[in-house]
This record gives sequence, C-alpha cells and structure tokens, in this order.
Amino acid sequence: MKINILEIENFRKFEKSSFRFGDSFNIINGKNGAGKTTLLEAIYLLSTGKSFITNHINNCIKFGADYAFVSAKFETKNGTNEIKFMFGKNGKEVRFNGKRLRSFSQFVGTLPAVFMNYKLSLLIKGGPEQRRAFLNHLLIFTDREYYKTLMKYYVLLKERNNLLKNGADAALLSVYNDEIIRSGTEIQKKRAEIIKKISLLTKEMMNFITGEMYVVEMEYIKSDVEKLSLSETLEKEILRKRTLFGPHLDDIKILLNNVPAREFSSLGEAYSLAFSMRFAESKIIEEERGEPPVVLLDDFFSDLDEFHRKNILSLTKSRQTLLTTLNLSLVPEEIIKETKVIVLR
Ligand SMILES: Nc1ncnc2c1ncn2[C@@H]1O[C@H](COP(=O)(O)OP(=O)(O)OP(=O)(O)O)[C@@H](O)[C@H]1O
Ligand SMILES: [Mg+2]
Repeated sequence: MKINILEIENFRKFEKSSFRFGDSFNIINGKNGAGKTTLLEAIYLLSTGKSFITNHINNCIKFGADYAFVSAKFETKNGTNEIKFMFGKNGKEVRFNGKRLRSFSQFVGTLPAVFMNYKLSLLIKGGPEQRRAFLNHLLIFTDREYYKTLMKYYVLLKERNNLLKNGADAALLSVYNDEIIRSGTEIQKKRAEIIKKISLLTKEMMNFITGEMYVVEMEYIKSDVEKLSLSETLEKEILRKRTLFGPHLDDIKILLNNVPAREFSSLGEAYSLAFSMRFAESKIIEEERGEPPVVLLDDFFSDLDEFHRKNILSLTKSRQTLLTTLNLSLVPEEIIKETKVIVLR
C-alpha cells in the first residue's frame, strides 16, 4: 500500500495543497502549527472515515469555508486507485475510482493505515475503549465483513438502549435480542480469534524494540453478548436502563511479566508495549492482505531514546512511512539519505 498523491482543500489551515510522497520514508518537517499533524489527519480520515483529533469531522473544515475536500491516489497490489471525499454544510460526497458511493463507510477498509502519536501509551494505560478501538481497527482491515457487522451492532445497541431508557417492556426488547446477539457473537468470535495472534507478535516486537526478554500475554475479557438472552439480565437492564453485556464492553487484559501492564508497567514500558501492539497489527494486516499498511508517526522522536528510536524505525522498513518532526537533526543520518523530506512553511 502506498499513497502517491494527497490533495486537500479547505482542510484545517490548508486552502489548497497537493503533496507527493515517496515509496518508503517520508519526513514532514516544519515549525509548530505548520500543518504536519494535519497531513496525517487527512490520510487517517481517508483510511477510517474518522479524525484522530475530533469526533466531528466538520471541525476539519477551514474556518470560514463551507466544505472540505480530501483526495488521494494510492497504489495497492491490484493497481492504482483514487478516493475523493468532500464534506461540509451541504452533506458529503464520496467517489472511489470515479464511481459515487452511497456513504464513506462503503470505502472503509480499503486504505489501511496505522497511526501513532504521543497518546499511544493510552492503549495500555487508558480505559477499555482504547483496546476495543484497537481490535476494531485491526479487524476492519483484515476482515471484509467485520465493519458491516460492527455498524449493524452499534445501530441495534443504540435502538435497544433507547428502548430501555424509555421504559419499554420485556416483550418488545426481546424482539431485538436475536439480532443483537447474532451480530455481537460474530464480533466476539472474530476478536477472540485474533487476540492470540496479536499476543504472540506483540511479544516478539516488544523484545526486538527493547532488546530484553519480556513475557507478554493477553487475555480476552469478553462481555458475553449471549447473556442478553437470560431473563435475569433483562430484569437488571430494565432497572439500569442500558444494555449490560456485549462487545461494546469488551476489554483485553495485557500482562507484562505476569502482572497487568495497565497498573504495573512503567510509562516507558507501556509506550514500547503499545508500539509493539501497533507493529503487531501492521504485520497481521500485511499477512492478511499481502501488503503492508501505511505507517503514520506523529512527532514520535521526542519521547524516545536513541536505541528505541533506531529499533522502531527499522520496523518501518519496506513500508511507506510518513513521519512528522519538528527537529530534523533527530532523524538518523542513514534514514535521511533514503528519505523524502517535505518542509511545510
Ligand atoms: N478548522 C481550521 N481552520 C483553520 N485553521 C485551523 C483549523 N484547525 C486547526 N487550524 C490551525 O492549524 C494549525 C495546526 O496545524 P497542525 O496541528 O497540523 O500543526 P503541526 O505542524 O502539527 O504543529 P505542532 O508541531 O505544534 O504539532 C494551527 O495553527 C491551527 O490553528
Ligand atoms: Mg503536530
């Protein structure tokens, strides 16, 4: 997977700009506020339909403008593609290889990218929603049906929670149960299958990045959706007015040297562990799709010592990598040589 050209219009501070990327390393350099993170945000938006900064993508529209436009020409092993996405006050328009799509969700899963920034350690230290988002992200790019099932599940969950909030009776709620249990079970089955793989690869990556011998284990903490079929569950749910079991409450317990990393690992360990999970994810995506995702690294040099920096950079070899940095002097000499440097002013 390679992005050749990114075009943006009215996207954050950019009025109209176009960027051409190289096949391997790309460094995006510029002072604070120059727009470095914005370029990664635009690519992430094309990859997932979401921003990693805001929950409302209309916030990405340049102040005073009515719409924003983002497009990319990208290459997969099957050929060259073009995605165009316009959004704004008058709605959205998505075109993939010239053909209009009903919604952006039809495209999600086509352009795999893995993003890392200073918040990365939240994957270990943050709440369960971080680890659920991780699982979803990985499965969206490795399993064609997963995203559809996930969307369906969330629609059903929202409707079911609304019914619970409005005091619907057991008979009406049970109508929902079959469908929500069916899609929830499918999601949980896929999550359970992939966690073993993530765990093994994360351990490998962790020991490579740190040069030590950590034991990494992961346990799937499943909030079993099948429990929704029990009448005692329903009684509790009617009292608490929300859905009490299902993939929306899952977690992964991560053990580092036999103790929960969320509570006991140091920040540095959490950071390396989170990197390892993201690179494990990239590797699984690569195995499943037959080509690697694009790697997006936002300003990650500042928090790492040279040893970790070097090891992490070597993991990005043979993948198109876009890396933002304030300070070019932090980039190792040998990398600069094979790098395309984009300086934003
Ligand atoms: N919707 C918007 N319209 C216009 N400008 C915006 C919008 N949203 C953000 N900006 C501006 O874009 C700039 C932020 O760009 P960005 O975060 O990409 O910079 P950066 O190069 O990553 O900086 P840093 O080195 O500080 O991380 C800020 O100056 C901000 O005010
Ligand atoms: Mg930035």
